[in-house]
Amino acid sequence: MPVITCIEDLKRLHRRRAPRMFYDYAESGSWTEKTFRENTSDFEDIYLRQRVAVDMSGRSTKTQMIGEDVAMPVALAPVGLTGMQHADGEIKAARAAEKFGVPFTLSTMSINSIEEVAEATTKPFWFQLYTMTDEDFVSRLIQRAKDAKCSALVITLDLQILGQRHKDLKNGLSAPPKLTPSTIANLMTKWRWGIGMLGAKRRNFGNIVGHVKGVTDTADLGAWTAQSFDPSLDWDKIAKIKEQWGGKVILKGILDADDARMALKVGADAIIVSNHGGRQLDGAQSSIRALPSILEAVGDQVEVHLDSGIRSGQDVLKAVAMGASGTYIGRAFVYGLGAMGEAGVTKALEVIHKELDVSMALCGKRTLSEVDRDILMIPENFEGRWQS
Ligand code: GLV
Repeated sequence: MPVITCIEDLKRLHRRRAPRMFYDYAESGSWTEKTFRENTSDFEDIYLRQRVAVDMSGRSTKTQMIGEDVAMPVALAPVGLTGMQHADGEIKAARAAEKFGVPFTLSTMSINSIEEVAEATTKPFWFQLYTMTDEDFVSRLIQRAKDAKCSALVITLDLQILGQRHKDLKNGLSAPPKLTPSTIANLMTKWRWGIGMLGAKRRNFGNIVGHVKGVTDTADLGAWTAQSFDPSLDWDKIAKIKEQWGGKVILKGILDADDARMALKVGADAIIVSNHGGRQLDGAQSSIRALPSILEAVGDQVEVHLDSGIRSGQDVLKAVAMGASGTYIGRAFVYGLGAMGEAGVTKALEVIHKELDVSMALCGKRTLSEVDRDILMIPENFEGRWQS
């Protein structure tokens, strides 16, 4: 087993072991990828204040997200096609998250279905919902998540239409992969992945195939999205979905203070400051740069979480110090999964946990409740002063 010391190590292994089209799917931003890049580079612009001679015994990274106990404020983000990165990927990631004590969020566009993940786990997970024009299908999906005892509905708001990721078009992304001379040549070098896939429970979109009338080919994500996602989603519809769900709701994809106020109005239990990992509006601000204005607008009235750009425990610490009460990792756990299956997801969580714990201690703090903006050195004008 290779020595893994950081998320970058897992990423290198993921790249080597998973078919190119799926690694590229995870590792893409939309268009020029400016927002994708800045999600991580903006974290690097923030410094941590080192403190010394502070008793650092008895530390803990435990906290809560939407009232649920978590071993650290890091949930697994919903990621489409996770079960193509590694056989039964959603089941494996959900199990790793459960054992570690952090929330797992299942994507609507997952390979393993809600029912399969529920059967393989013992604690409730969260379900991420995309809204489709087929309202019956959406209602049934919500009911399936209820039946599976999911403890939160994460409604994604920033993907009614799909941002263009060049590599997906060039690679002919599909699930399962369409066999062309170039995919066959690539798959022949991924024997470990192929053997795993032969024994997988599922190789297509488990929440969709067999559940949507009139749709036979969901393999092409771009075409399916254009055909099925609801371009008319608005705040009234979100309020109706919330009512239909009747449980905790997390609204994902908020990058603007006005939208954060709207989310508050519809009664969200938490919002996720997110630009979808830089995969949607290229040219939008990074999540960490957008966070302060959103906290200022609604931070005392609703839980504010953050995703997009978290690759280390130091990033988690910076987001929490700025005021986020939870964060999400998408790519960071997918690298682990693509590298080594469930053990790789566990490794990703261990890496991030250790980085968070040690960095918190070196900033002179023993618990996350002691952590605040004081441990950060943020460049002047980090949030930007923009012409109105
Ligand atoms: C779906 O969520 C995607 O970003 O591809």
